[in-house]
Amino acid sequence: MTQVSGFRSWCLGVTLPLILAAALHQGFATVAPPTAQTTVAPQKDPERPDRGTYRLNGTNGTACLLANMGLQLNMSFVFQEKVVEYVVNIQPNVTKASGSCEQERAVLLLTTDGEKTNLSFVFILNSTSTKYHLSEVSLNATLPDVKDPLSVRNSSVDFLPGTMGHSYMCREQQTMIVSQNFSINAFQVQVQPFGLKGDQFGAAEECQLDEDDMLIPIIVGAALAGLVLVVLLAYLIGRKRSHAGYQTI
Ligand SMILES: *[C@@H]1O[C@H](CO)[C@@H](O)[C@H](O)[C@H]1NC(C)=O
Ligand SMILES: *[C@@H]1O[C@H](CO)[C@@H](O)[C@H](O)[C@H]1NC(C)=O
Ligand SMILES: *[C@@H]1O[C@H](CO)[C@@H](O)[C@H](O)[C@H]1NC(C)=O
Ligand SMILES: *[C@@H]1O[C@H](CO)[C@@H](O)[C@H](O)[C@H]1NC(C)=O
Repeated sequence: MTQVSGFRSWCLGVTLPLILAAALHQGFATVAPPTAQTTVAPQKDPERPDRGTYRLNGTNGTACLLANMGLQLNMSFVFQEKVVEYVVNIQPNVTKASGSCEQERAVLLLTTDGEKTNLSFVFILNSTSTKYHLSEVSLNATLPDVKDPLSVRNSSVDFLPGTMGHSYMCREQQTMIVSQNFSINAFQVQVQPFGLKGDQFGAAEECQLDEDDMLIPIIVGAALAGLVLVVLLAYLIGRKRSHAGYQTI
């Protein structure tokens, strides 16, 4: 839904200036010779990452972990005494998934960019509560212009919460802050590290962001319905009053 409206506003944002530019261009065509210049401003951040499908197999050959998601890494480091922000997309077609599945612990390791970037996710299952979550993220990345690779590890994060046998799903973009100098922008996530049935995701548990997103139209709809009801009541009461008025005369 947001994708469509985002695309629509993007179209509007692009086409309007183009139409304007075309109109202006027509106006000035007799004065200035036409130039081949485009009017689109350069984009600073990389575009939305492609959605990857990552899979780990268990001992019996069927999937024990499935993760479909688009990932964008946001790293910052100090270069020549200045903080540099380095944002890169994980390219699924050059990314390898490996790792391990245990009873209460699953590790997904993504290796990409010719082993220049290693990203690992550790999921933990609490078998008493049958809840799981992403509890550890680590990154080892070779950066341009810098000698030492960036190395980050946080083993007390709490993201992507789900229930055993179900998948965690989030259509909205979410940002997972791993440390002061590293965060992950995740897009269209569906992940399940425990209790897969065959090669399939279990029923999806939608994230809060998605639910909030659906709540807005519901609230607006309810408010509008309420307004219509109030106007209708006011009209009916008004009619009854004037009717009663006629009868007394
Ligand atoms: C990257 O993180 C910084 C804060 O560390 C933030 O200001 C910036 O907006 C982020 N960029 C993207 C593309 O998420
Ligand atoms: C697992 O869940 C139970 C019940 O919610 C809780 O009491 C326990 O502390 C949890 N164990 C761990 C290791 O988090
Ligand atoms: C990523 O892992 C591979 C294999 O373990 C290793 O050879 C490579 O040096 C690692 N890359 C970084 C940047 O740590
Ligand atoms: C790890 O993540 C937790 C929860 O987001 C945060 O409070 C903590 O500061 C992080 N630790 C490090 C070393 O960045």
